[in-house]
Amino acid sequence: MKTIIEPFRIKSVEPIYFNTKEERTSILEEAFYNPFLIHSKDVLIDLLTDSGTSAMSSNQWAGIMQGDESYAGSPSFFRFEKSVRDITGLPFIIPTHQGRASEKILFSILGGKGKYFLSNTFFDTTRANIEFSGAEGIDCLCKEGKLPTVAAPFKGNLDLAMLEEQILKYGAANIPLVLVTVTNNSGGGQPVSMENVKGVRSICDKYNIPLFIDACRFAENSYFVKLREKGYADKTVRQIAEELFSYADGCTMSAKKDAFANIGGFLAMRDEKLALDCRNLLVITEGFPTYGGLAGRDLEAIAIGLNEVLDENYLQYRIRSIEYLTQKLVAAGVPVMQPAGGHAVYLDAKGFLPHIPVDQYPGQALVGALYVEGGIRGVEIGSLMFGKYDETGKLVPAALELVRLAIPRRVYTQSHIDYVAEVIIEVFENRNNIKGMSILEEAPLLRHFTVKMKMLD
Ligand code: F0G
Repeated sequence: MKTIIEPFRIKSVEPIYFNTKEERTSILEEAFYNPFLIHSKDVLIDLLTDSGTSAMSSNQWAGIMQGDESYAGSPSFFRFEKSVRDITGLPFIIPTHQGRASEKILFSILGGKGKYFLSNTFFDTTRANIEFSGAEGIDCLCKEGKLPTVAAPFKGNLDLAMLEEQILKYGAANIPLVLVTVTNNSGGGQPVSMENVKGVRSICDKYNIPLFIDACRFAENSYFVKLREKGYADKTVRQIAEELFSYADGCTMSAKKDAFANIGGFLAMRDEKLALDCRNLLVITEGFPTYGGLAGRDLEAIAIGLNEVLDENYLQYRIRSIEYLTQKLVAAGVPVMQPAGGHAVYLDAKGFLPHIPVDQYPGQALVGALYVEGGIRGVEIGSLMFGKYDETGKLVPAALELVRLAIPRRVYTQSHIDYVAEVIIEVFENRNNIKGMSILEEAPLLRHFTVKMKMLD
């Protein structure tokens, strides 16, 4: 088989500014070892997120010029609505400025004290919006999803037995919905099988609970179904995506991922009464229902991006580039989550830095080392992001200590990825010199964004 090439030509480029290891050492110190506090011009390869960082296509840029900025009834909205409806089949479509705005609206209406939401794994903003409403979020991830190096095709699946147990424990009447996150970002970007979604659907039917999809990476998930699940090889990714949404009562979406947009999102659903409540809240928080929190031009970019992402040449390159990096790391003995996920490579920081205990945040220490060595910016997905404190103030660690290197869509080429592999392998060879971290200052919610840390001696 020949090399899988980037399925695009480059028309416009952005420079990368180079700096030295010494400069990066002081930049990191000044940023209190928090990658979110580093200026992006000081980053060589930015793998902080795949969200809002995509390169838009010439068609999307052309669409932007067609954006109609009318307050009400813009044709850009109707093009956006059609794209979303063609894929999801959901009748009520509500634009928002990004995924978390959809979450805020949905969970403000359905959440509150005494309510419980179930998922494979809630993303951090999703969990925060649930908890902010007074409700609780419970992750029901399958067992293999919690074992970073055990290879299984659908490690994003829900544990259906656990899901049903939790429903019986908390009572169906207190569970406003089950949310299936595709792909499972916080669990390694691992896909959920169609069979599992169908299983969730039948449990939801049994207890009369709506099923929603956190659809940020629906196309990547659908492509994995095509590659890995029996009976789907001959279907198009679009058909697979349509089937996926056919089991859902609604979805939340961040268009900053699989819609290739730099900003945007939506909420979609079948329930007219819920849609009415959501729109009422939308008007006082985001904007009028035909633009939500967006400009007409953003709606155009999303409408076009949603169709482009279902191109299978693109998805083949996308999934392959993540797998390519994973394989290089595995060959060098670097502990990395396997198999490769859809949008990111996840280093297993516990395996990488066994000499650093979890309460010294090995993931954050590794993030710092990658930045200093090669100017690569990643993010900790471990006890800094998800850890809690018990009554005595002791850290209750997260299930996994990962470092996520998220690959922006259509942005980096194979040589960038080769460079990333070289840097990680070099850091791995010198891993014994990496030291643990302690927290100087932190916020009560989503502390990883603003935390200030120091390196321990
Ligand atoms: N759900 C999932 C699964 C996500 O990955 C994200 C964002 C959101 C919801 C919220 O969407 O950012 O548009 O408000 N994930 C980004 C990331 C931030 O880096 O993984 P948003």
